[in-house]
Amino acid sequence: MRENPFRISGIVTGKYFIDRADECQAVIETMRGQGEKMLIYGQRRMGKSSILLNAAARLRKEKEQVVYADISPATSLTDVANIILHAFNKETGGTVNWIELLRQIQISFTISSQGIPSLDVSLKKESADKQLTCLSAVLDSLDAYAAKKKLTLIVDEFQKMVEFGAEAAEWQLRSAIQQHQHLNHIYAGSQTRIIDQMLMKDRAFYRFFEILSIGPIDETFMGEWIDERFKQAFGKPYSVGAECIRLAGPRTRDIVKLARKSFVFAQRSQKIDSLVADAIQQLVSEEDDFLRPQWDHLSNLQKDILKVVASGVTEISSQATITRFGLPSSSKLAYHFNTLVKSDVLGKDSDGYHFDNPFFKHWVAQTLPEA
Ligand SMILES: Nc1ncnc2c1ncn2[C@@H]1O[C@H](COP(=O)(O)OP(=O)(O)OP(=O)(O)O)[C@@H](O)[C@H]1O
Ligand SMILES: [Mg+2]
Repeated sequence: MRENPFRISGIVTGKYFIDRADECQAVIETMRGQGEKMLIYGQRRMGKSSILLNAAARLRKEKEQVVYADISPATSLTDVANIILHAFNKETGGTVNWIELLRQIQISFTISSQGIPSLDVSLKKESADKQLTCLSAVLDSLDAYAAKKKLTLIVDEFQKMVEFGAEAAEWQLRSAIQQHQHLNHIYAGSQTRIIDQMLMKDRAFYRFFEILSIGPIDETFMGEWIDERFKQAFGKPYSVGAECIRLAGPRTRDIVKLARKSFVFAQRSQKIDSLVADAIQQLVSEEDDFLRPQWDHLSNLQKDILKVVASGVTEISSQATITRFGLPSSSKLAYHFNTLVKSDVLGKDSDGYHFDNPFFKHWVAQTLPEA
């Protein structure tokens, strides 16, 4: 059995990581600086966290310290502070004199028997303001450390921070971060709608960060990278990469997932022609348990709209489409398209509407009469 060269769980590193040379370089330059502030953003599953961790791994080889805090499990600003403290402790190997460093935070914190500091959980019951003051103090203490030894803080799923404290939190955070002359702050986030709003003109983070926008990997490069992995494993040329990209769309994880399943099929059969089509079919049927409840949850009109998008018609509000799918007038349709965008089932760009999840698109396409 050959090892599958495509990984879809967690952060990919080493031989599983398709090089993002420019993006990694930009992140590394920020990490080498002092007092830098960068925001990495892009759509879900594009590969933001993998870029950050690959860049961090390179910096660590040069003995630099990079604290990586994924705050997605947090349910309060106190949790955010604690996740950052724990990550800091992990990175600095427990060598920090916490009592000295946290002295400035005039709130209670405990240090576990393993030497890990935590803010008192009772703080979660306090106002967002109070919690934010403590979080700012934690960030200040990291900046104080960075004054002596270079340090970068990465906060992944950053939009959570302001979810807990509303807009007021943004201004308070901004003023804390702005004062840091030593600590490099790198924030990453994927709910582009929330982050887009956070960066608007009247909001605190307007023009505050250097922005690194993460888009799709170059199609030719990625297609060839996939084909090369097949060739290395099976000792003959395969041409599956471009088809994976065509069927899975622009998000890195979706493409890698389809390549991974195609690889499983290639191990079982000599039939090369329909490899990717068979793989997507299989993925869609494996995900039926997960996709069907999503479908059942939608109104009949929303289902019809999804059928229109899955059918690939481009003129969605044309009379021909309205008649073919039995839809209401186009003025009513706009509202319902919007609700599907707000709930992340559909996305919208300059080319029109598309499914957020390409496998859901194929699942819905199967329900069409022509399927
Ligand atoms: N450069 C890459 N090389 C190979 N696979 C990648 C790469 N980037 C992303 N992937 C694939 O996509 C998956 C998701 O990547 P990652 O978690 O880095 O994305 P993300 O943009 O941070 O996603 P999310 O928005 O969900 O946080 C990985 O587990 C891997 O399967
Ligand atoms: Mg991520």
